[in-house]
Amino acid sequence: VSRTTMVGIFEQLKAEGFVVSGHGSGTYVCRINVEQVAIDLSIQNISAHVSNLQSSTPLPGELKLSTRGTYLDQAPLNRYGKGQPFSPGNKDDGLFPLNLWTRLQQRHLRAVKSGGLQARERGGLLALRNAIAEYLRVARGVRCEPEQVIITQGTNLSLDLVTRLLCDAGDCAWVESPCYWPAAFICSANGLALHPVDVDEEGMAPPGYSAVSSMPTDPSPRLVYLTPSHQFPLGGVMPIGRRMAWLDFARQRDCMLVEDDYDSEYRFSGAPIPSLQGLDTHGRVIYLGTFSKTLFAGIRIAFAVVPQTLVRSFSEAASYLYHDGDLVQQAVLADFIRDGHYAAHLRRTRVVYGERRTALTSALQRMLPDAFNDGRIRFSGAEAGVHLTMLLPIDVDDVAIAKAAGVAGVTAIPLSAYCIGQPRSGLVFSYAATPPQEIQMLAQRLGETIRTALTKKTSANSVKLSPKEKKANLI
Ligand SMILES: Cc1ncc(COP(=O)(O)O)c(C=O)c1O
Repeated sequence: VSRTTMVGIFEQLKAEGFVVSGHGSGTYVCRINVEQVAIDLSIQNISAHVSNLQSSTPLPGELKLSTRGTYLDQAPLNRYGKGQPFSPGNKDDGLFPLNLWTRLQQRHLRAVKSGGLQARERGGLLALRNAIAEYLRVARGVRCEPEQVIITQGTNLSLDLVTRLLCDAGDCAWVESPCYWPAAFICSANGLALHPVDVDEEGMAPPGYSAVSSMPTDPSPRLVYLTPSHQFPLGGVMPIGRRMAWLDFARQRDCMLVEDDYDSEYRFSGAPIPSLQGLDTHGRVIYLGTFSKTLFAGIRIAFAVVPQTLVRSFSEAASYLYHDGDLVQQAVLADFIRDGHYAAHLRRTRVVYGERRTALTSALQRMLPDAFNDGRIRFSGAEAGVHLTMLLPIDVDDVAIAKAAGVAGVTAIPLSAYCIGQPRSGLVFSYAATPPQEIQMLAQRLGETIRTALTKKTSANSVKLSPKEKKANLI
């Protein structure tokens, strides 16, 4: 064995703490508890060890999950298929102008070498905040200056920031029911008490505005989570009167409205719905937006538009908590928006997704003509977004249909999984990634599954979340 090999071996043993050496005094073996390190690192042994770990649930006592961890682990939506057609978050990545993006990216990567992309501004790259502010003013009627736009790596993180900065543990958050599940989870995870408010076809109403039975009036919320332009997942559009009533409510009760404007770029009929934030004259709305619906889910660029008085706190906290995100992608996106490519991409995808939505609605109507005609089933909400919600009679087991659909190779999320207030039955399909021919074929399978379920209705109680799941939903 050569000297170099031996020196290498000793260096390695020293680095791993098996031997120590002092200058001029030789090398000595360390005192080690042999049993702790006597692991046979042969391939067979490693795989046996791994499968042992996997099969040894529950975890050893000291590795127990927290209450929040258990809640997340058992989250109803974790059970429904990923990777199948109509799965949430699926978008047609083939429509994305990859060559153009790559060219822009190369240009900005070169700037990294000259130090041109070092994090300087807290809250995200100023060029992107400029581009987003300009876009929001024109396209969404949002009133904002670039510094009010705080870049995050997703709506979850935007909401995380909002709840951490504005709420204390034990404060109350009013959330829609049905609700975008991660929004409710993040409020819970940050210690807020959830008060679900059942929505109607115009979204969530403030107290006294409509006779919604489960409307809480106490405790006062610190934060109200709303999707006013396209309620998720029912698709209702909140009318102007209700919007103004929420703004009055927020002022009177000293709370913040969080407007999640996640998919307003895709409206297939009627004029665009301007934002709630644009009506606010008292700094009571935090507006959340994302690029994961319009570009691709993996881009992980989203933003919160905060009132001027909160700009410093939000931009500094975002920077401390999550750093400033991927500045290369932010620079690329800034060019992409500023040079008109984003608007062009939206125009193109709006047409394609609109055709796919029509393909799905007409195929399902063809498959289930009687149930549509006699009103047992119907589509919910405005013609917008990249998901379609179908309402079922309350005594139809949407969970069972979703499971059967999963077995047939197509994902349908049961509406009941999103409900933390009054139970409802229905199915949610995310259709944007699926071409029309495939939609026809999948709608056929769905149609057969739904028809079978409609003919053998089960009791409403057996279909909803168990009391344990319900409690977990509201930790
Ligand atoms: C209501 C709602 N908000 C936000 C998002 C997007 O979240 P993110 O920015 O983390 O991708 C989605 C995506 O499905 C959504 O349905």
